[in-house]
Amino acid sequence: MPGKSSKVRIFEDRETACRTLAGELAGLIATVNASGRDAVLGLATGNTPVPLYRELVRLHREEGLSFARVVTFNLDEYLGLPREHPESYWTFMHRQLFDHVDIAPENIHIPAGQPDDVGTHCAEYEQAIRDAGGIDFQLLGIGRTGHIGFNEPGSPRDSRTRRIELDPVTREDAADAFGGLDQVPTHAITMGCGTILEARRLGLLAFGERKAAIVREAIEGPITAEVSASFLQEHPDAAFFLDREAAEQLG
Ligand code: PGA
Repeated sequence: MPGKSSKVRIFEDRETACRTLAGELAGLIATVNASGRDAVLGLATGNTPVPLYRELVRLHREEGLSFARVVTFNLDEYLGLPREHPESYWTFMHRQLFDHVDIAPENIHIPAGQPDDVGTHCAEYEQAIRDAGGIDFQLLGIGRTGHIGFNEPGSPRDSRTRRIELDPVTREDAADAFGGLDQVPTHAITMGCGTILEARRLGLLAFGERKAAIVREAIEGPITAEVSASFLQEHPDAAFFLDREAAEQLG
């Protein structure tokens, strides 16, 4: 059906979904490396991808998966946080994945939480993605606002990496981790919808009943900047990896 090209893949549970995707990513890394270049992965943070990173670390330790020829670009970072802040996405990614695999530090890209100049930093981030040859696979989660990255409602289809004000719902969802709503940053840097949609392949993970309503909107609702994940409907190679609970409102 035109305009509805994204695939929906429903799994028994989140572990099975993450194991499946990790296996596919290992295959993608091998294929791209065999073609003579580094594999470029777009990565995501949050609770959702934690089992995926755990499985990628296991594949590295037990099955020889190497990240020596992998380049990564994370979707976003909170503005105002130093790298070493416990809730920075820099800290998250190193704890969950980078500290446990053989990736070269210079191949890791995460937007800066405290850039000298935000506009310059965002433009350089876009340029670094282009210089790497574009993103082969972009991992995504979905917020209750429908955001991918931190592309909150109103983020245009062609938006690029930029500073964004976090939606109140997004800040509320982060309040426990930060030890209170007043501790949650008000702004972030995020790749834009246009940046994300240029990836050759997209995989969005969503688990649990809390995500069921927004997952239905993203997959079956209108394609709109009010739900940035709905833009995946127009991408030629995008898949939603869901558990049964997250899929329960699909028609
Ligand atoms: P979560 O966040 O994985 O912690 O639910 C997802 C998101 O906001 O993109």
